[in-house]
Amino acid sequence: MGMTAWSEYAAAKSRLIGGLRGTVLEIGAGRGANFGYLSPDVSWIGLEPHDRTRAALLRTAAAHDLPSRQVLAASAERIPLPEASVDGVLSTVVLCSVSDLGAALAEVRRVLRPGGRFVFFEHVAAPSGTWTHHLQRIAAPFTRTFDKGCDPSRDIGTAIRSAGFATVEFDRYVRPGPLHIPFIAGTADN
Ligand SMILES: C[S@@+](CC[C@H](N)C(=O)[O-])C[C@H]1O[C@@H](n2cnc3c(N)ncnc32)[C@H](O)[C@@H]1O
Repeated sequence: MGMTAWSEYAAAKSRLIGGLRGTVLEIGAGRGANFGYLSPDVSWIGLEPHDRTRAALLRTAAAHDLPSRQVLAASAERIPLPEASVDGVLSTVVLCSVSDLGAALAEVRRVLRPGGRFVFFEHVAAPSGTWTHHLQRIAAPFTRTFDKGCDPSRDIGTAIRSAGFATVEFDRYVRPGPLHIPFIAGTADN
């Protein structure tokens, strides 16, 4: 399993997020960390279930000049948009926190038009047998309770590969630091 250098991770954000066109739905948009990467001609829809975070997101979105900006109070497991209604979906460190990963990925596929692209940047489970994997499993009940539902032990790459997309491609990264947290970044095309 090859690793891509962490220094490439930010470049991948510019390339993959910046490559999205048309109507882009960002799930779990948080406070709006990705506006700087998005092409200025996208129509952006941000979905964020947490009330206080969404208020901050609205402020960030208002400061960015895109053809359209809309913020939805909803969860990725139930996206209030018609099927095949968006050209792209973006998720950055969100799939660790959704309560039902399979349902969220099915919703991403449903709202994406045929040929549409899902771009994801996620922290994922370390390979089983590693010290990091062990730590992730021990930490999961605590982080799920105290870190906004985050489960660090999810094999998100395998879940995306099993979700029925036409093609899935991602690179693997390890964030520098004592915990060696693995990340994946890539695309799933509908
Ligand atoms: C770690 S933050 C990442 C925020 C942002 N994407 C970023 O990169 O800065 C995870 C976000 O996912 C949101 N979230 C949690 N559960 C969710 C769900 N079921 N559906 C959609 N978003 C969810 C949280 O409220 C939070 O804003």
